[in-house]
Amino acid sequence: MKFIDTLNGNKSTIPPIWIMRQAGRYLPEYRKLRKSEQDFIKFCLNSEKASEVTCQPINKFDMDAAIIFSDILLVLHMLNHEVSFIADKGPVLKRLLVGENINFNDWDGYKFNLKAVGKAIELTKRKLIHPIPIIGFSGSPWTLFTYLTEGGSSRDFSNARNFLWADEKNAEKVFDVLIKAVVCFLDVQLKAGANAIMLFDSWAGSIPAIFRKKFIIEPTKKIVEYIREQNPFIPIICLPKSMGEGIIEFADEIRPNCLAIDHLTDIEFVHKSLSKNIVLQGNIDPICLVHGGKRLEREVDHIINLMADRPYIFNLGHGILPNTPVENVEKIISYIRRN
Ligand code: CP3
Repeated sequence: MKFIDTLNGNKSTIPPIWIMRQAGRYLPEYRKLRKSEQDFIKFCLNSEKASEVTCQPINKFDMDAAIIFSDILLVLHMLNHEVSFIADKGPVLKRLLVGENINFNDWDGYKFNLKAVGKAIELTKRKLIHPIPIIGFSGSPWTLFTYLTEGGSSRDFSNARNFLWADEKNAEKVFDVLIKAVVCFLDVQLKAGANAIMLFDSWAGSIPAIFRKKFIIEPTKKIVEYIREQNPFIPIICLPKSMGEGIIEFADEIRPNCLAIDHLTDIEFVHKSLSKNIVLQGNIDPICLVHGGKRLEREVDHIINLMADRPYIFNLGHGILPNTPVENVEKIISYIRRN
């Protein structure tokens, strides 16, 4: 399988292709099925629907990998910080305030409640006509911590940062719970047959640099080490989004099989700075895909040429946008696979 071969360090002239958030609102068939369930969390936990949505972009575009349809915020929901999604606002959840901790001990119950995600993976494996790898995923502790302390999305992450400065020792305790929650979530997905793992640190660029080591690198390292100990052949992709120069230390310390590069990070700089053993993925600006056309083709040619001497996976720098024309996705995939 091309995607796993690449993650294992093998180069190919035509890179494997998948797109972050490939199962989502830009697809009419997603929007149709989504209407059948108002509550987004319930939608994610409906294994039948989640597996169907996972397969939609595969059937349509013949992607080289499927990412299981789920959400990083399920983890917080199951830790008793119920998440609801409000139209035009995004996720809303009970905030964790300075001085508070996540009081949680019921790990058997936690795993049981997430079984639906494992079942969705098993169903997807059965449904895929041509077997392709399935990516399991989780948010990284820092990104989960931002949603927990902000009570939703944020512009400046001041509550999350304030929590670290106000009581670093307590923040460490919260992170210990989040690390365990991430590991258990990934365990469920790996036991169900996930073939690779991706860790989304979508807000890695929002932590004060002084805290990176303690709250990004160390927690991620613990998770990666644990997963590798239990599953030595499972490749791991990390997206430390917009981490700036910190991405080099991140790669050196964590040694993921693959680094996903966002569009605000200079992929040429990362390419020049890192050993060729690390696979790179990314980093077309999702807005460039909305526009499509020759300009997009030029960007794609540029990245593929740049990555000629390194194992590389085609993807965007962040999730595909809901206003992306489906035909732009079709066209760019056939452009990459031409000949
Ligand atoms: O196709 C796939 O990539 C798999 C499914 C997937 C979703 N979310 C489905 C989803 C994945 C991998 C995620 C990850 C996720 N979720 C991240 C990390 C990646 C990133 O984009 O940075 C984050 C930060 C979240 C949290 C989240 N989920 C937010 C902030 C929102 C609301 C904003 C938005 O994009 O609408 C969601 C909702 C969500 N997750 C949707 C989908 C398809 C849209 C909800 C809907 O259909 O109504």
